Amino acid sequence: MTSALFSPIRLADLELPNRIAVAPMCQYSADDGAATDWHMTHLGMLANSGAGLVVLEATHVERHGRITHGCLGLYSDACEAALERVVNHCRRIGTAKLGIQLAHAGRKASSQRPWEGAKALEPNQDPWPTIAPSALPFGPGWHTPAAMTEDDMTRVRTAFTQSARRAVRLGFDAIELHLAHGYLLHSFVSPLSNKRNDQWGGTPDGRMRFPLDVARAVRAVVPSGTPLGARITGTDWVEGGLTADDAVALAKALKSEGLNYLDVSSANITPDSRWPSEPGFNVPIAERVRRESGIATRAVGMIANAKQAEAIVAEGKADMVAMARAFLDDPHWGWHAAQALSAEVARPLQYARTAPKLWPGAAMRG
Ligand SMILES: Cc1cc2nc3c(=O)[nH]c(=O)nc-3n(C[C@H](O)[C@H](O)[C@H](O)COP(=O)(O)O)c2cc1C
Repeated sequence: MTSALFSPIRLADLELPNRIAVAPMCQYSADDGAATDWHMTHLGMLANSGAGLVVLEATHVERHGRITHGCLGLYSDACEAALERVVNHCRRIGTAKLGIQLAHAGRKASSQRPWEGAKALEPNQDPWPTIAPSALPFGPGWHTPAAMTEDDMTRVRTAFTQSARRAVRLGFDAIELHLAHGYLLHSFVSPLSNKRNDQWGGTPDGRMRFPLDVARAVRAVVPSGTPLGARITGTDWVEGGLTADDAVALAKALKSEGLNYLDVSSANITPDSRWPSEPGFNVPIAERVRRESGIATRAVGMIANAKQAEAIVAEGKADMVAMARAFLDDPHWGWHAAQALSAEVARPLQYARTAPKLWPGAAMRG
């Protein structure tokens, strides 16, 4: 029986050998936005994980758009040069295609790294001013952002296109926009964070307007053969917040702007907007988005088991799956999933002798 998970997929002109993506994961280890040796190691490892696509962590389009002092950016020549080193390394040593997530943290910017408390930066921690659709803090104790002016929107839109141009120059195989997890573009879409009465708020169409504007501007600078995707929120998991109906409407609108695929995540628009811990908790919404919008869709969230991932794709609930923590736990997750599903996966030549056909020990691993 052939595996659906290990069947190829095409997104624009990009051919991926399987339906597995490593989800973007902030490492909080950059130096003024520039990738470091940590990224060489971390991404070099994941480039040989068996995933067809590795998506780089939220990479911020302006310095004040970073979540923390350690977040990755693509807003300067120094950022671009540092990332070029990592990309070239992954290409030389790895098997995966590389995607990048472009982001702006909005009202969740200027915060501490998770291991420093994950709260707003204190006055003695070099905080910076934040921006958002409305002057509403993320939660108690968070910075109050400035409501964005038209000039701010022009600047941020331009920052997205400039970072996208840099990503194209670096040769990324896919580019994704971050429209989830409470960051700037999601905070425009959600009625919990966007209370504007002008053309950038009010109605659902008004709240989607700025993210769609950004998507259109980025699409215009990304070659049509390079897939452009977005991570959207399937639901805010909060009364009065976004629901699956909104996700479907946004998916249709993003598809009309020429996006090639979506990743359906959820939550984090407010401190009490948390995702559940059930297996595959975003899958039912991803399935609806896929069915009703017709765009290639990736599901993420508590997917960790090869048979579970196989069923999601084989049953048509999503075209692809993305995994975050499972790949940190097992950086060869893709190899082990291929073994469980009797499928083939690319390994670097140096590690070819770990293939189950060549190594009886593979069958002994518990
Ligand atoms: C260490 C870590 C960093 C993360 N950073 C990002 C990020 O940069 N962008 C993003 O969209 N999601 C980020 N996430 C969320 C994951 O991409 C994923 O959606 C979430 O962990 C659920 O998937 P999982 O159950 O496979 O871990 C992060 C998750 C982890 C564990």
